[in-house]
Amino acid sequence: MDFEAFFTVHCNLPREGPGSDEATREALRRLPPLPRSPRVLDLGCGPGRQSLVLAQELGSVIAVDFHEPFLRQLEVSAKQAGLGDRITIRQGDMGALEDPPGSFDLIWSEGAIYLLGFANGLRLWRPLLRDGGLLGVSECTWIQDNPPREVREFWQAEYPEMMTIEDNLKTATDAGYEVWDTFILPRSAWWDEYLTPVSDRVQQLRASGNLTPGLSQVLAETEREIDICDRYGEFFGYVFYLMKK
Ligand SMILES: C[S@@+](CC[C@H](N)C(=O)[O-])C[C@H]1O[C@@H](n2cnc3c(N)ncnc32)[C@H](O)[C@@H]1O
Repeated sequence: MDFEAFFTVHCNLPREGPGSDEATREALRRLPPLPRSPRVLDLGCGPGRQSLVLAQELGSVIAVDFHEPFLRQLEVSAKQAGLGDRITIRQGDMGALEDPPGSFDLIWSEGAIYLLGFANGLRLWRPLLRDGGLLGVSECTWIQDNPPREVREFWQAEYPEMMTIEDNLKTATDAGYEVWDTFILPRSAWWDEYLTPVSDRVQQLRASGNLTPGLSQVLAETEREIDICDRYGEFFGYVFYLMKK
């Protein structure tokens, strides 16, 4: 992967994965009650749209990512939203956190647990939650049986570990969580703040004509992902999994 080319496509976008403020709020509404002033961690926060909502709704949040430019973007938007003192930005590896066991009431992660592997992320993060602590993650998931061959082959190459909701529920239970609730994000959560801005960025970069081989490859891969999401979107979706330790 040509990271420079990847981040040329992905810098300064509203989000780095499907989601919406409304979906974040809906997931928060479905959680069991949290203590007053909960200790909240947002992992793989990226540019941090969901971190802003978490801070607004819950009081404060620690937002973790290892890509510094995303954290600077969040810093600016937190200040603009008047939330600068409620969001602690931390550059670090969400797979190697050193917080003491039981440090958090809620761990949140939108569209990022797949980078560790769903089961592995659940296992790594569980000790950081206090007993009865809550975990909310969104994860790309098969939502219809018998997907056509083209979309199966696409995900076999991109994310072969992608599971069904039922498989993920079992994985979560096996990892020591009670699954409290799940819901599928609407298709608008893919397009409005993620695929449409990415698609616009691809067109701008193509129009600029200044393409290195690495950038050409990332643009072609991005167009392919957008096309698959457009034509086969009913077969897979982002699913919120709300769990209790
Ligand atoms: C698909 S993006 C989702 C970002 C954000 N939650 C959103 O929905 O817009 C995944 C994020 O995880 C971050 N990331 C990947 N591996 C990481 C790791 N090991 N530690 C911390 N952040 C990581 C990436 O930099 C990226 O910002």
